[in-house]
Amino acid sequence: MKQRFPLSYLLLPVLLLALLLPAGCGRDAGIQTVRVGVALYQQEDTFISTVAQNLELLAREEELARTIKMNLTLADGRGSQSTQNDQVDRFLAQGCDIICVNIVDRTAAAVIIDKAQAADVPVIFFNREPVMEDLARWEHAYYVGSKAEQAGRLQGGIVKNAWQADAAALDQNGDGVLQYVMLEGEPGHQDALLRTEYSIQTLTQDGIPVEKLANDTANWQRGQASLRMSQWLEEFHGQIDVVFANNDDMALGAIDACLSAGMDTASLPFIVGVDATPPALAAVAEGTLKGTVQNDAAGQAEKILDLIGAFIDGTPVEDAVELEDGKYAWLPYTTVTADNLDAFL
Ligand code: GAL
Repeated sequence: MKQRFPLSYLLLPVLLLALLLPAGCGRDAGIQTVRVGVALYQQEDTFISTVAQNLELLAREEELARTIKMNLTLADGRGSQSTQNDQVDRFLAQGCDIICVNIVDRTAAAVIIDKAQAADVPVIFFNREPVMEDLARWEHAYYVGSKAEQAGRLQGGIVKNAWQADAAALDQNGDGVLQYVMLEGEPGHQDALLRTEYSIQTLTQDGIPVEKLANDTANWQRGQASLRMSQWLEEFHGQIDVVFANNDDMALGAIDACLSAGMDTASLPFIVGVDATPPALAAVAEGTLKGTVQNDAAGQAEKILDLIGAFIDGTPVEDAVELEDGKYAWLPYTTVTADNLDAFL
């Protein structure tokens, strides 16, 4: 005679499996479920956390618009490429349909692209740009970002305009030369290299005399930038006309250092950043930060969702998103100063 089990016995393993599977990439019965794994290089990075929040918001909107379920799973690489590689392995093993990667080490993209290709899962890199040869390894590898060179030019343009309008207001020691310090992002990051280069080139190409007093990396971080700036204030007392920071967190760190050294808003050097994060916009409103360049977190998230939408629909990605070389979706940067601040608040 056949042994009969109550239904609950048969369902138990299924229920256990459902509990064990992480929410993001599990299987859902009923309506179509799209599983998206998002690997972040460092979740606590101010700009990256803004992109992640926008992605989550847009995924919810997409669910409503399409009557689907979109399981978005975020993984924090905490600055380690090997941790991130494991996270990507897990996304693929769990059956993610698409992966989005904010890669820790830009030169390590080939490994991830090969894994995604082997699983036939499209991979969208964002914010940290892989080298072109790596992206070319597979048809369904894309990059969403903004051109670092443009951010550098716009940041340099803010300083150039101020110098040309009233050089004396910036020139602390009145020697007719613009003395500056440069707070750089992570070494090797395209945004650190190119923003540094093109901000200064924008001044020199127009014949503005500049002198670099110091430069150093502060790895995008406010605390590190504040430490560097404190040292420079002691070393170059009264000489620093302009502080170029590759991002807003570091610009805010420089302001912290100046204020704790006893300066007031009127005596601060001319400090500029990039990103247009909410605290940076508040600093522009206060007058401590003279300008920034908007790094369009919402726009980048939107382009990522547009690409995902094309994969869901099975339509050519070029129909959904304008792509350069079939690979790159670029978002423009925008200058923000006290003059146009209202539009960004
Ligand atoms: C830059 C941004 C920085 C930092 C970095 C991380 O585009 O300006 O603030 O978030 O990306 O890759």
